[in-house]
Formats: sequence, structure tokens, C-alpha cells
Amino acid sequence: MARIVCTSDLHLGITPARTLKVLVGDMARARPDAVVVAGDLGEPAELFCACLDLLRPLQVPVGIVAGNHDLWTQAGGGPDSDQLFGEILPRHVRARGQCWLEEDSIFLADGTVLAGSIAWYDYSKRNPQTAEWTPEQFARAKPDVINDGRRIAWGHTDPGFAGLVSDRLVARLERLSGDPAVRRILVATHVPVFERQLTGRRGDDPVLESYYANLTLGRRLLAFPKVGAVVSGHTHRGLEPVEVPQEGRPPVTLANLGSDYGDPRFVTLEL
Ligand SMILES: [Fe+2]
Ligand SMILES: [Fe+2]
Repeated sequence: MARIVCTSDLHLGITPARTLKVLVGDMARARPDAVVVAGDLGEPAELFCACLDLLRPLQVPVGIVAGNHDLWTQAGGGPDSDQLFGEILPRHVRARGQCWLEEDSIFLADGTVLAGSIAWYDYSKRNPQTAEWTPEQFARAKPDVINDGRRIAWGHTDPGFAGLVSDRLVARLERLSGDPAVRRILVATHVPVFERQLTGRRGDDPVLESYYANLTLGRRLLAFPKVGAVVSGHTHRGLEPVEVPQEGRPPVTLANLGSDYGDPRFVTLEL
């Protein structure tokens, strides 16, 4: 059995460092075999790095997924979102001996593997108001409903980037699934990938919901029987770990971190 402590949405800079130090102490006392941070550590990159440093007292493997906030550009210039995601953030994570879960995986002695991705929203979550919207309509509405519309700068569309990172994760899961030494896989994503993970949201703008999920990726993850748990963040609304039965494959444990600004949370998964 492996005990994995998962957190997300630490938002250093909005959430004080002293609050995160308490969180890290509490996580260490849970005696995990590994720790996962499912995105939104801090921006700009200096605060992302300072958040990584706050995790250093953890004496176990630490896996990091980037969140949308971590890819925000700054008013005074600096790197664009592609440079942050593809070069700068992975370099800072690896320089600290932590695991950039977007490309690398954590292998534990009992055959548990941790993998992850930012996942990104692909407009697959719809409601009656947006059911017939085109991707172009979502892209046009975005600056009015989520800060990503003004602060993410790169050459991708949302569905395009979501597809890119999803394809890479699925290719890695194919490799891991074929490895007899791998017994079970925990997937950490920043953006939730199952409808069930979106429970508990309170009266948000129905348009905003479409920037909160990648349900396409969730369906693809279920094709891998070794994927036994999926934990995500981003919505700031928690789903306590729950084992969800699946047709034709073993159940999958789903969780969503309930960290909010100034109020970070973690969950402990025993796999
Ligand atoms: Fe967040
Ligand atoms: Fe987020």
C-alpha cells in the first residue's frame, strides 16, 4: 500500500507563506510515501519557486503539476506561457530534485506510479446556455469570465492545448500500463477531468464552468485499468476521496482539492 498526500492551489502570494508552512508540517505528519501538488503554486515564477522551496522539508518524492495561474504572463514583460510551461517551470522543479509530473513519473517501491498533467479545459463541460456554442464563442467570451483570457499568451487554442497535453499523458499511460512492475497509477491533473469532481460548486456563472473541466481526458483515462485514482484542483471546491464503480474495469478513486485562497487543504489517499 502507498500513502499519497495530495494538495493543490497553494497560490503563494495570495496565501501567506506562514499558512503554507503549517500545511507542509501537517502533510509531513501524515507520513506519506509521496506528495503531489496539482497546480497553481504561485505567480510570477519567483513565487512559484518560493512555493517549491516551502515543500523542501518533505523528505519524500514530491511531484509537481503546473496550474493555469502558474502560466500567467506579467504586465511588465517576461516569459510567455509557452516558455513557462515548456522550459522555465520544469527547470526550476527539477533543479530542486522534485518531479515535473507533466513529463516524468514517480515510481514507488510497491508498484504505485504517480503521473500527471495540467490537463487544461477543452469546453467539454456544457450547460443549457452553452450547449450549442462553438469553440470560437468560448474563446471570445473568455476574457470576460476568467483571467486566463487576458494573462495566458501562447499560440494555442484551449481545445488544441488540452488535446496536446492529453495525448502526451495517454501515450505515457500506455507505456506504464505495459510495464508489469507497475501495479497502479495515480493521475494528478490541475483541471478536473470527471463530472463528479465538479460537485460542490456554488452558483457560479454557467459560462465559467466550461473553463473548469476536461471531461474528454477523463473518458480516455478510464481505458487504463491500472489508473486507480485521479486527483485534481482548479475549482477550489473539494470532493473528498470517493471510490466510483466503473463498468468493465476496476473502480477509480476520485478527489478534488478544496484549497482556496488563504485556506490550503490536502487529502491523503491510500492506494
Ligand atoms: Fe487555483
Ligand atoms: Fe487553476
